[in-house]
Amino acid sequence: MERIRVRGGRRLNGTIQISGAKNAALPLMAASLLTPEALVLSNVPKLADIATLAALLAQHGADIDLSQGDGAGGQTMTLRAATITSTTAPYDLVRKMRASVLVLGPLLARCHQARVSLPGGCAIGTRPVDLHLKALEQLGARIELEEGYVNASAPGGLKGGHVRFPTVSVGATENVMMAATLAAGETVLENVAREPEIGDLAACLIAMGARISGAGTERIVIQGVAELGGAHHRVMADRIETGTYMAAAAITGGALTLTHTNADTLGAVVDALAACGVGVARQNGTLTVSPRSDAISPTDISTQPYPGFPTDMQAQFMALLTTADGASTINETIFENRFMHVPELMRMGANISLQGHTAVVRGVKQLRGAPVMATDLRASVSLVLAGLAAEGETTVSRVYHLDRGYEHLVEKLAACGADIERVAD
Ligand code: EPZ
Repeated sequence: MERIRVRGGRRLNGTIQISGAKNAALPLMAASLLTPEALVLSNVPKLADIATLAALLAQHGADIDLSQGDGAGGQTMTLRAATITSTTAPYDLVRKMRASVLVLGPLLARCHQARVSLPGGCAIGTRPVDLHLKALEQLGARIELEEGYVNASAPGGLKGGHVRFPTVSVGATENVMMAATLAAGETVLENVAREPEIGDLAACLIAMGARISGAGTERIVIQGVAELGGAHHRVMADRIETGTYMAAAAITGGALTLTHTNADTLGAVVDALAACGVGVARQNGTLTVSPRSDAISPTDISTQPYPGFPTDMQAQFMALLTTADGASTINETIFENRFMHVPELMRMGANISLQGHTAVVRGVKQLRGAPVMATDLRASVSLVLAGLAAEGETTVSRVYHLDRGYEHLVEKLAACGADIERVAD
């Protein structure tokens, strides 16, 4: 297994092209199951999670073709599910990635039945799928849990319904929105997630012939149609990758220009950086983090559904705030166990105390390099960021977590002056 070795202390300087968003690409790929025609997705990042979902979709009967991007980066993926050959999503594939559960809505809508393994817990929490299942029941699905599988059926097809989600869920909103596109009649979804990835999925579904309004607000209305067709869609820029590199610039006191991204999706992150004394200039699809002369100012952060501060940026900000001039608090409200990076950051000299869902981070003058272990995607990258600022050498093991969600991380950072490389164990 490989590790990443970082020798800290260099200010980053340069330009990084942001990749397509993993968390947009995954539901978009699942949407290909809704039509026998070809769905062409451009700007698809080359990541382990994308390959995992592609394997699952192929197992359902989709033909998947990958070609080099359109010049602006990423891969172009053509998915054609002419015939669904299996409506079962087996445990072996689903356990690798929770987002696999996104095939449930499309399979049920198109084939009126699906058998999908329950994903199980993961490092950041128990992460149930009850909201997905209850909402699909309100669209007329019969759901049974049997031997670790969700057995769902809708003889005669799904029917429009009214769903008010008790908790905001990105995945449940996506799953049910996809299912409702082919349900008979009107579906109203309330208290839905407003993440930009929902808007990206809705735009693609509309291009495929779906009738959806309200994506990006708390209420989405879908008029079911008899069938959907093919479409060409460009995957939106990865706002979490963008935020991660903004934090990398800030922690090293460097200056980075991030291109092919969208500042409009990053309001809360830019505001949090401003509160830390880090300036970010926005111009069209480009964000520029200015070098700072003063220490990072402490600040208080609470993760929230979009447009609040994203839980997927919490670990990276914690790394940044370990170097601040004073004490900060970070309150994690989305996942109950998303502080796995805390003991690893403390091994690097960070001063953090945990009180339930809140971390109190007292800034230290200097982090020190150490061997550390990655536990999940965002936790891992926070350790890389800490390593960029630390004195001496940091090695991050379990690099496969990073390969799930950061395209060319080492190359992108090295091109901006970081002393970073992958090394064999
Ligand atoms: C998505 O996960 C993202 N994944 C996550 O990104 C992200 O952290 C999360 O949204 C929150 O923004 C993808 O888009 C593929 P949720 P998702 O359903 O959809 C609870 C990353 O690092 N809940 O919005 O699974 C749940 O436990 C990742 O890229 C239920 O209780 O998240 C959590 O507390 C990790 N029952 C909260 O809702 C359910 O049925 C929000 O989760 C579903 C969710």
